[in-house]
Amino acid sequence: MLKKVLEQGREAADIALEQLLPPASQHPTSIHQAMRHSVFAGGKRLRPILCMEAGRMIDSCGDGRLARPSRAQLGSQKADSLPPGIEQVGAALEMLHTYSLIHDDLPALDNDDLRRGRPTCHKAFGEAIAILAGDALQTQAYEVLAQILCPAEARVAIILEIAHATGTIDGMIGGQVVDLEAEHKKPDLATLEYIHRSKTAALITASVVTGGIYAAAKPTDIAHLRTYGESIGLAFQIVDDVLDLTQTSEQLGKTAGKDAAAEKTTYPALFGIEESVRKADALVEEARAQLEEYGEAASTLRALAHYLVERKK
Ligand code: IPE
Ligand code: IPE
Ligand code: MG
Ligand code: MG
Ligand code: MG
Repeated sequence: MLKKVLEQGREAADIALEQLLPPASQHPTSIHQAMRHSVFAGGKRLRPILCMEAGRMIDSCGDGRLARPSRAQLGSQKADSLPPGIEQVGAALEMLHTYSLIHDDLPALDNDDLRRGRPTCHKAFGEAIAILAGDALQTQAYEVLAQILCPAEARVAIILEIAHATGTIDGMIGGQVVDLEAEHKKPDLATLEYIHRSKTAALITASVVTGGIYAAAKPTDIAHLRTYGESIGLAFQIVDDVLDLTQTSEQLGKTAGKDAAAEKTTYPALFGIEESVRKADALVEEARAQLEEYGEAASTLRALAHYLVERKK
């Protein structure tokens, strides 16, 4: 069942990305080719999938527990269909994520040659175009978000959520700054948690929360989704650190063993692999506990939490 969710989610995200990104033939072609090189290199599309599945869960639980009637009760759509247009929010999240990867790989940051099984953006197009491709994916994401098909108030809330999550205060950029500044230093837990929660968990949390907002979730639902997102987001980066040590570059589609070489502050560096895996597992259980009251409607989000720690790439 989860395999189907992952496949269909990836497909929906890819179709939306194809429509929402300028064509490679659009002038100036170098930047559009560079954006597409990195976006269509075979990412897992986890952020769009989390967003869409959070939206689906909220949309499908308009039962007695919630004030709203469900789609099924309204009789207009299949009960398990996605909120129409939500894949555009997913596509915007993926653009922002891909921008963060392009910049993460730059010589001034992690200096990586391989990403998603392809040469990194700066290897293929040069540093200047890679920097601009990252910038361009960021601005394109907000152009898309400004036009998503939900009430204006929800649209603004979604934009705020995502902008904050990718910013400097407890967001992706803040996390990347501390990640770089912590290189070659003795890892400590407070710094490690800050890095992981900010550079990775913040955007994953925003993916889940914005899916909920798009589907008109109530504040209590948003609070559950947020805690779920924070837990799986931290678990996700712990697993990323573990995979860096345990998998091959071929399997990962990115250079393995980079963290130790750069003396990064990672979970395995502080706790070892086994304890790191235990911590990720515990976080997944915490995340799943947030969804108890949603019953069957939350089965996909529960399975996704599990997948994030079981994955091999
Ligand atoms: C990699 O993210 C960067 C991190 C935040 C750990 P993913 O593992 O989701 O990478 P893709 O999108 O599948 O390439
Ligand atoms: C990067 O973390 C997180 C981002 C915000 C891109 P990593 O540096 O560990 O990601 P990978 O391992 O290169 O994908
Ligand atoms: Mg990095
Ligand atoms: Mg990196
Ligand atoms: Mg990594």
